[in-house]
Amino acid sequence: MSTSTVKVSVSALAKSFDKLEVLRDVNLEVSSGEVVVILGPSGSGKTTLLRSLNFLEQPDSGCIRVCDQQIDVRSGIALSRQDRQAITRLRQKTAMVFQSFNLFPHKTALENVTEGLISVRKVTKEVAHDRGMALLKQVGLQDKAGSYPAKLSGGQKQRVAIARGLAMDPEVIFFDEPTSALDPELRDEVLTVMRDLAKAGMTMIVVTHELRFAREVADRVVFMEGGVVVANQSPEVFFNANSSPRIQQFLSKY
Ligand SMILES: Nc1ncnc2c1ncn2[C@@H]1O[C@H](COP(=O)(O)OP(=O)(O)OP(=O)(O)O)[C@@H](O)[C@H]1O
Ligand SMILES: [Mg+2]
Repeated sequence: MSTSTVKVSVSALAKSFDKLEVLRDVNLEVSSGEVVVILGPSGSGKTTLLRSLNFLEQPDSGCIRVCDQQIDVRSGIALSRQDRQAITRLRQKTAMVFQSFNLFPHKTALENVTEGLISVRKVTKEVAHDRGMALLKQVGLQDKAGSYPAKLSGGQKQRVAIARGLAMDPEVIFFDEPTSALDPELRDEVLTVMRDLAKAGMTMIVVTHELRFAREVADRVVFMEGGVVVANQSPEVFFNANSSPRIQQFLSKY
């Protein structure tokens, strides 16, 4: 695999909270256009791994390379100015979608989507408006542009959050349980948007409990337990009846 096609590369990543080792020697590589779904029991380190990828959580040690920005974290050594600059550039090339949407309550759907374009990217209001409307259309919400989050369903809020992420033209999107806060009937509308993004070639790392999405959309399934990547394989292999007893046991809970 040539370096340019690798969008995310993690090696020997470790993170503890006090005495609790949450990530232990995590290694992961994600190519351009790949959809990787991370599964695993509660507390296995999935969120911590995702948050470490854009340094919302600072790992203790290991190497992270995302969109050609590389940061080597060494135990007990503070990040350099170059590292911090690399983190800023890395964040500009990635988007994160959380379980809890995190929309601005006092801004309309459209304003939520265009906020970063105007304040960070400094594009004109007109350009931001057109881009925002196009993105709302992409997630099926052009008729909700003027609605405030309080007037939107959970599924609609999450689609606004995805459009907001897309506004910054990310090369990779990290999703942390994007549908977990939603009623089952609202999940599909969010999963459909994610499916379309995957089809369009977006690189995505998705922590989820949606096994059907994993089976149908993922190129690879990563199974974590106890801060370790236990399995990293195609959905065909992962969901095969011959996969490991631990995976069978995990899957039997659904
Ligand atoms: N800021 C923190 N301070 C202390 N401990 C933390 C912190 N964040 C996470 N942990 C602990 O780290 C472990 C892994 O948490 P993490 O949120 O990464 O798990 P997860 O796999 O995402 O779980 P879930 O499926 O419940 O979301 C847990 O034991 C958790 O209690
Ligand atoms: Mg989590």
